[in-house]
Amino acid sequence: MVQSAIVNILGISGSLRQRSFNSRMLRAASALLPPAVTLEIDDLAPLPFYNSDVEQHAMPETVVHFRQRIAAADALLFAVPEYNFSISGVLKNALEWPSRPPNPPISGKPCALMGATISPLGTARGQFHLRQICVALNAFALNSPHVDVTEAKKKFDDDGRLTDQNSLDLIRSLLNELYQFTVRLRLNS
Ligand SMILES: Cc1cc2nc3c(=O)[nH]c(=O)nc-3n(C[C@H](O)[C@H](O)[C@H](O)COP(=O)(O)O)c2cc1C
Repeated sequence: MVQSAIVNILGISGSLRQRSFNSRMLRAASALLPPAVTLEIDDLAPLPFYNSDVEQHAMPETVVHFRQRIAAADALLFAVPEYNFSISGVLKNALEWPSRPPNPPISGKPCALMGATISPLGTARGQFHLRQICVALNAFALNSPHVDVTEAKKKFDDDGRLTDQNSLDLIRSLLNELYQFTVRLRLNS
């Protein structure tokens, strides 16, 4: 087991919804961090639609900041809503920006995935699409544990707190694994 290095994680929710279960999952993760880990949560709302004309003219300031936050993070934690058996358009659009040269900041970044849905079937299809996208991004997605909050309405309380113990345990385990994975990649680079 690798220990003691500081790992700064950037959390990214694919939902803009104010009462988003996925964004709330990230907030739950904030309370489950291993000792040497920090988690900053990003907001994708200010990002414009990707447009290569805009990119070639000049990256918008919000995009520059987003790319800088990804570059500064040691690892990424995605909370993935499943939309029509895939990831949300919001998340897909956001990921185009850090995929672009020069020095795509997401390339080589370790990342972990989790998802919440109101359905009993879970977000595996969406998460697998994100894994596929990670190949194109050259981002290194942690393989396990698979963290899926199904039937989310039953697992968050009225104040939006995740209360399901099994889900909380899985998120804690995911964060521990992401920490170990990030430190291992850093030692080998
Ligand atoms: C356009 C749209 C498509 C959806 N498609 C799926 C789906 O394929 N699978 C699923 O489990 N839930 C699907 N849902 C339900 C979402 O999981 C649910 O709205 C969830 O709360 C979204 O995440 P959020 O709470 O973080 O916003 C869909 C919802 C919308 C609005």
